[in-house]
This record gives sequence, C-alpha cells and structure tokens, in this order.
Amino acid sequence: MLINRHKPEDCACILPSEITPESAYLNRRDLLKAAVAAGLVIPASWQAEAAETQKLNYTKNPGFSVTDKPNTYEEITSYNNFYEFGTNKEDPARNSGSFKPTPWSVKIGGECDVKGTFTLEDILKPHALEERIYRFRCVEAWSMVIPWVGFPLKDLLARFKPNSKAKYVAFKTIVRPSEMIGQRSGTLDWPYVEGLRIDEAMHPLSLMIVGLYGKTLPNQNGAPLRLMTPWKYGFKNIKSIVEISFVEKQPPSTWNITAPSEYGFYSNVNPSVDHPRWSQARERRIGAGGGLFNARQETLMFNGYETQVASLYKGMDLKKYF
Ligand code: MTE
Repeated sequence: MLINRHKPEDCACILPSEITPESAYLNRRDLLKAAVAAGLVIPASWQAEAAETQKLNYTKNPGFSVTDKPNTYEEITSYNNFYEFGTNKEDPARNSGSFKPTPWSVKIGGECDVKGTFTLEDILKPHALEERIYRFRCVEAWSMVIPWVGFPLKDLLARFKPNSKAKYVAFKTIVRPSEMIGQRSGTLDWPYVEGLRIDEAMHPLSLMIVGLYGKTLPNQNGAPLRLMTPWKYGFKNIKSIVEISFVEKQPPSTWNITAPSEYGFYSNVNPSVDHPRWSQARERRIGAGGGLFNARQETLMFNGYETQVASLYKGMDLKKYF
C-alpha cells in the first residue's frame, strides 16, 4: 500500500562515481541519448544523464550556502521522489524522459492585484539566478546536500502585489497523464498540491528553483520550476509548478490530505517530533558510504536553519503544528 511505501529505506542505493572528465561525459551523453532513442534498456541513473539540460548563468551565494560536501549529480538525479513518474526512487529518472518542460506557463491568482498566466520566460526575466548549496532532508530519514540554482520566492511573489487577505500561498503541479505515467493511476489525488504560510513563503531562504549543478533542472527533479524550503521535509518542495495562488485559508497539501496523522501542514524538520512509524532523530546521508551499515548522523532542528527560521514559529506548539 502506498502509505507504507513512504517510509525510511534501510538499503543504500548503489551510486556511480562522478569522477568522469567532461569530454568523456559529453561523448557518453551522446551515446546514451542514442541508446534511449533506440529504445535500449539502460540504468535509471544513466537516463538522467541522457536528459536535455542547458547551462545557466548564475552567481554563487556563499552567504546562503552550507559547507557540507554536495552530493554528486548522479545521486541527486537518480534517487528521487516524484510520484507522477512512479513510486520507486529510480522511477522518476527512468520514466520522465518524454516529459516536455517547454513551453511552460504559470497561472497566478487569488488575493493579489496582478493576476494572469505568465510564460516561464516572463516569470524568470527580472530575476538574477544564484547558486545556493542547501541541506535537503526527506521525511523518510535520508538526506542530501544540493547545489540549487534559483532566485528568492519573495521577489517573485512581490511582483503580483498580494493584498492583506493573502495569508497563505498555494502551489499546484501540472497534470499531464500522457507524459506522467504515475498520474494514470490513483496513487495520489492529482494534482500534487502544497502550501506555505505567507511569512514562510516570503522568508529569504525560500527559493524558486530552476536548476542544479549550474544547469536547468532535469525532469525528475521537477523541471522547469520547483520550490525549495530547506528547513522543511522534502515533500513540501513541490515540483513542476503550474499554478501559484494567494489564499486566505490554509490550503490543502498532498501528503497531509493523504495521511493527516503522519504528515502535517508545517512539515518542519524536527528531530524531537517523531513520525508515528519511525524516529526523525537521525538521518542517512545518501552517498556517505558504508551501505546498510553506514553511520546515521543526527538531524538538526529545522534541518540546521534554526537561527534563520525559529522566529517564524515563536509561541507555537510544534508537536501540535508538525
Ligand atoms: N512534487 C510532486 N509534484 N510530486 C511528488 O511526488 N515528491 C516530494 C517533493 N516534491 C513530490 C514532489 C518529495 S516526497 C520529495 S522528498 C522531494 O520532492 C524530492 O525531491 P528530489 O527528487 O529533487 O530530491
């Protein structure tokens, strides 16, 4: 059953080494693309490499980056949760090859003065892209460190002039079952939806993501536009966004609708509030080595972003608002 699938994995996936010179990598990518086009069966992690991505112009933002060693490109793009493409970790890389992230548009509406449907180019035009290396903690008790490329969500939201009734921001993922095999079954209620309180959305750590490792997002990581709130569990970070609306009441969020006793609306990383079926006190860093027996590291309050975000939740009972 689905809900039982969404649990910590005890086995470490086998991950390829990243030590490949760029020229060899590019030739290999051409070969892989040809193999995919010819319908040959290749491992999921290789398919990620075959996917089309483009180089982005960006500046590094060390002030907003952690110094932990980033996971490799292969790790980040071959071990994913994206139920629209299947429920296993390798499914998104394997099944997202024919998803078309261009052309793309995003509908903006609700409690704001500027509404409409905007192309991705309109959305991106005024924003300078930056790279931030963030910690990423999945609710399933594994973690990664990812060099994202994006821009502050608050700068995007401000352009639409939210009014005083805009207490929350709601997000929706695209529904396209012809290209998303997982949407042909009722694993989840589609579209995948998520939401943030407006002050969380306006927090300087909240990012709109368009790329990773200096290139546009591969399909399996949520191309072309996704959310990143590094102090929350991974499932808040909705992928392939087509709708953003400002709302007065707390909006629905997919995992909260699916299993309300297991996944709350806030979903803040909190080592002292366990999931009903497992502890959240420790995490397995993907790629840290050691296979099944690798050392788990302690999970930090708000995923290590406590000094920046704790004030958002001052006075709240975090066991109740989990
Ligand atoms: N967004 C959509 N639309 N569908 C999903 O299934 N999975 C979530 C989140 N965003 C998901 C989604 C979960 S459970 C996690 S852990 C992260 O995406 C995984 O992001 P990654 O694959 O880039 O690591």
